[in-house]
Amino acid sequence: MDSISFKARARTIDHLGREQIADAPTAVSELWKNSYDAYARNVALHVFDGEIPTAAISDDGHGMSRDEFVGRWLVIGTDSKLSETEASESDRNGLPARIRQGQKGIGRLSCAALGHLALVVTKRASKSFVAALIDWRLFENPYLLLDDISLPVFEFSNNEQLLKNLGGMRDVLIGNLWGHESNLERKKRIEDAWRQFDELEARQSRDSTRRSIEEVIISDVFLERQLETWSAWNGKADHGTTVLLAGLNFDLEALLAIEGPDAQDDTVTGARRRCFQTLSSFTDPFNKLPNIQNEFHYAIDIWHRDDPSSFLSNERELDYSNFDVLEHIVDGSVDEEGVFRGRIKAFGEWLDAERSVEPIRVRRVLHRLGYRFRLHRSDLPGSPDITLPKYGLCIFVHGCFWHRHAGCSRASNPASNKKFWATKFDTNRKRDRKVQRELARLRWTKEVIWECETRDPEKLIRRLERIILHAEVSLKTASPSVAA
Ligand SMILES: Nc1ncnc2c1ncn2[C@@H]1O[C@H](COP(=O)(O)OP(=O)(O)O)[C@@H](O)[C@H]1O
Ligand SMILES: [Mg+2]
Repeated sequence: MDSISFKARARTIDHLGREQIADAPTAVSELWKNSYDAYARNVALHVFDGEIPTAAISDDGHGMSRDEFVGRWLVIGTDSKLSETEASESDRNGLPARIRQGQKGIGRLSCAALGHLALVVTKRASKSFVAALIDWRLFENPYLLLDDISLPVFEFSNNEQLLKNLGGMRDVLIGNLWGHESNLERKKRIEDAWRQFDELEARQSRDSTRRSIEEVIISDVFLERQLETWSAWNGKADHGTTVLLAGLNFDLEALLAIEGPDAQDDTVTGARRRCFQTLSSFTDPFNKLPNIQNEFHYAIDIWHRDDPSSFLSNERELDYSNFDVLEHIVDGSVDEEGVFRGRIKAFGEWLDAERSVEPIRVRRVLHRLGYRFRLHRSDLPGSPDITLPKYGLCIFVHGCFWHRHAGCSRASNPASNKKFWATKFDTNRKRDRKVQRELARLRWTKEVIWECETRDPEKLIRRLERIILHAEVSLKTASPSVAA
């Protein structure tokens, strides 16, 4: 008997990452979610112009030590379903507990959708920096096994060491194309795999992926410039994570085109719009709980030479406070019974008491009692809320405030703007009377159920039964010509 494990092709990374991601903005949001999960207060996507356009997604979250980077970032899949432990106090960076956004343990692979080349740099408080260099195109080779690809991981404590050692990291990366004398078996597997891939691409008249990986001149790609804005780099924070990207996806490059002939191109403006739409509401701007909103700041900055311009930021978006200036506001919630309770601002005035709106109670009761009815018949005067054709009956469910329910506490008079309200109510009352006359002319019985009468279900049932009985009797005694 044998005991054999699964093997994964290198392509698995491509399937789980780039191919799962709808578009570049969605990929950015996956990385922002990781920053959120790492209790970052700030995350930004920077896009840099230049000979080789680049980008960086930088946060000030708790970051990863070398062991964590190797044990978490470089391990596909998740154990978080099992170990649903909250982040430790020290990891939370003084922030209240957050609901974890990460789920499947593949989110970080989406950075392959943003650019071919990634330099991940991360740092935990009072630990060294850890950097890894990845060329996602390695994972396009269908003849390679996942095990055969190994990535340069470099630990350092002094900023300057990173750029100095980029060449060395690149050499390790290129080892995935050529193999290494120290492991001749692997060298042969790798060489075979790239030879086969080259042949396949040549047959399909495609450019050689191997060659485009070889052609990268790493010292021209990643520069101090992309790191400078990262707070763990410039010293504003002692922890965080950044992913530098090159070989950018079209959608990211489109963010650079703000002037010149390209700026008006449809595909460019489309990409910019999608990016804005997907990412401007990354957190719900209408969430009233300040700690969810205010403690997580995200932004997209576009750099032309040394000048940043803001493409998007949650600081300046429409949020809850912008509503305060509106003329009409309905601020409340609808409960399981379908009853609305909350505050209402109409014509610039907050109505004093809390209001509730429960028009569907009447429908539900009628339905339960087995009556057949129709809603809002626009062919009848006043489009009655409910009509029961069989009984020639129209029922209006009136709000006590708007329709001035006589003697009802809900029909209070607003304190200011008296004249305005008086006219408004007068118009409502006149309209109600007109509807009443027209319905009578058409031989319909009109009944009003006041909002306050719908509160008590028992009373409502009795009231409806009486109304219907009454309508039935008057229908029988009147002439038989009701237009149903
Ligand atoms: N910005 C980051 N800061 C700190 N840790 C991170 C960051 N991004 C990813 N990680 C680590 O890598 C793991 C894998 O991330 P990901 O692939 O998005 O899967 P998931 O979020 O579902 O766990 C995370 O659980 C986290 O431990
Ligand atoms: Mg995630």
